[in-house]
Amino acid sequence: MTIPLDDGQITVSAVELRAARDELQRFLLEYRFGMQEIETKLSILRDEFLLMHEYNPIEHVSSRVKTPDSLVDKVRRKGIDPGFESIRAHITDIAGVRVTCSFTADAYRLFDLLTQQDDITVREVKDYIAAPKPNGYKSLHAIVEVPVFLSTGPMRVPVEVQFRTIAMDFWASLEHKIYYKYDRQVPGRLIDELKDAADNAAALDDRMERLHRELHGPRPPHTLRV
Ligand code: GTP
Ligand code: MG
Repeated sequence: MTIPLDDGQITVSAVELRAARDELQRFLLEYRFGMQEIETKLSILRDEFLLMHEYNPIEHVSSRVKTPDSLVDKVRRKGIDPGFESIRAHITDIAGVRVTCSFTADAYRLFDLLTQQDDITVREVKDYIAAPKPNGYKSLHAIVEVPVFLSTGPMRVPVEVQFRTIAMDFWASLEHKIYYKYDRQVPGRLIDELKDAADNAAALDDRMERLHRELHGPRPPHTLRV
C-alpha cells in the first residue's frame, strides 16, 4: 500500500478506499501509542520530581501526531518513496512531544532523565541550545525510540521530543506564526529583528536562571549523554 502523492484522479472501489483508510489509521495509531508512552514517562518524572525535590521543572507538555495532510506534504517534499515501510524508516517526527521547561538546565536535565531510561533508544540529538540556528532558534531535539506493546507483538516507535524553555517556546511559536504561509522573500530587516528578539529571549532566560540560582543555590551540572 502506498499513499498517492499526486493530485490527479485515481479510481478506487469503496472496499479499497476503506482498506486504505484503515491501514493509514492503524499506521498513525502506532505513533499515537509511542507519543502516549513518552507523555507518561514525562508525567512520572514531573510528579516524582515534585515529591522528591519540591520543584517542578516542567511548565507544560504538548504533543501531536502528524495529520495525514502534513505527512503527505513531507513525503512529497523529501522525495521519499510513499510506501508505509519507507515512511516508517525516513520520517521520524510523525509523533512529536514538546516539553517546555522552566530553565535551560531543566531542559538538559529532563533530556538526561528521559534518555537514560533502559527502554529508550536515542536515534539522533540536535542541540540547538548549545548551537542555535542562524535565525536564533533554540531547542534541544531528540529522536527517541520507545517500545509499544501491541496484540501483534512489541514494536519500537520513533518520537521527536523537543526540550525548550518558556522564552525559547515564546520565540519559536511567534516566529512560526510570523512566517506561516508567507512564501515571498522575507525582508532582511525582519530576519535581523527576529534574531535580535531571539537574543533578547536568551538574555531573559539567563537572567531568570541566575535569579533562581541566587535564591535556591546551584543545581547539579547537566551531562549530555547519547
Ligand atoms: P523538518 O523537516 O522541519 O522536520 O526539519 P529537520 O528534519 O531538519 O529537523 P529539525 O530538528 O531541524 O526541526 C524539527 C522541528 O523543529 C520543526 O518541525 C519545528 O517544529 C522545529 N523547528 C526547527 N527549526 C525551527 C525554526 O527555525 N523556527 C521554529 N519556529 N521552529 C523550528
Ligand atoms: Mg524533523
